[in-house]
Amino acid sequence: MTKPNVFVTRVLPEAGLNLLKEHCQIEVWPGELPAPRPELLARVKDAQGIVSLLTDRIDAEVMDAAPGLKVICNVAAGYDNIDLAAAKQRGIWVTNLPGVLTETTADLGFALLMAAARRLPEGRDYAKNGHWKTWGMTTLLGQDIHGATLGIAGMGRIGAAIARRGKGFNMRVIYHNRNRNEAAERELGAEYVSKEELLKQSDFLMLIMAYSPAVRHFIDANALAMMKPTSTLINMARGGAVDTDALTQAMREKKIFAAALDVTDPEPLPAAHPLYQLDNVLIVPHLGSASVVTREKMSVMAAQNCIAGVMGQRPENAIG
Ligand code: GLV
Repeated sequence: MTKPNVFVTRVLPEAGLNLLKEHCQIEVWPGELPAPRPELLARVKDAQGIVSLLTDRIDAEVMDAAPGLKVICNVAAGYDNIDLAAAKQRGIWVTNLPGVLTETTADLGFALLMAAARRLPEGRDYAKNGHWKTWGMTTLLGQDIHGATLGIAGMGRIGAAIARRGKGFNMRVIYHNRNRNEAAERELGAEYVSKEELLKQSDFLMLIMAYSPAVRHFIDANALAMMKPTSTLINMARGGAVDTDALTQAMREKKIFAAALDVTDPEPLPAAHPLYQLDNVLIVPHLGSASVVTREKMSVMAAQNCIAGVMGQRPENAIG
């Protein structure tokens, strides 16, 4: 029996690729960068499965370029890069990776919160660049984390895992979400508040909502104006949740204490962007799930979804 064809849009950790190879005929795009659009369209031609990354736009055009396509498996929790409606219309399953990266991503969210609050990148540069002449009473003063109010926009799995970390630091946790999360209220003591109260009360405002056009520019100039001057914004959602120009202006004018971004708009943010020049802004290149163990688990889970899908079985993580 011939094995089903699968196109993998970037090199994955070996565990996932090996599993796929046992059941499928795979072609892996070898580049460090995503396949250019014409390459992507050409390579999916005979594919029954696509294993995609969040950097690949998988829309109707891609689906129509692959007439035998049964399943699209995103190696991510988010799936805003895939046109779900177009997939549904064509009877193609779309899968994501819920759960597997929750704790790792929450770790990074908290790492960014702490690094920005205590000015770690500035401290590193200060020491490295020879400014450290003595212990200074007012050197690089930051904001306290313990006892502060942690505001979470998006109380799903990762939001709750961040809230749990906040509890460990004796923080008050407030949240805003499309729907109330009663488990988080009961188990973590998180308080539901309006968006306005979230903006006004948070000392640390963590964005971790699922991205859709409905939350584009959730943080705009008005929202930034409502935040405390001592507050820190952390974006772990998608770049589009924050208006980059409004943030640049606000950080230049020190309207809030700090911003820490794991995601940007555009992404990647070009090296010449003015946000990189600001000491109160910390930017990392979308590293939420980037631990050795989690990335390996993600590759295996995506492979399992893909194998099921190409065999005609509903994958465990099929969306919708
Ligand atoms: C990362 O942003 C993901 O959605 O997994």
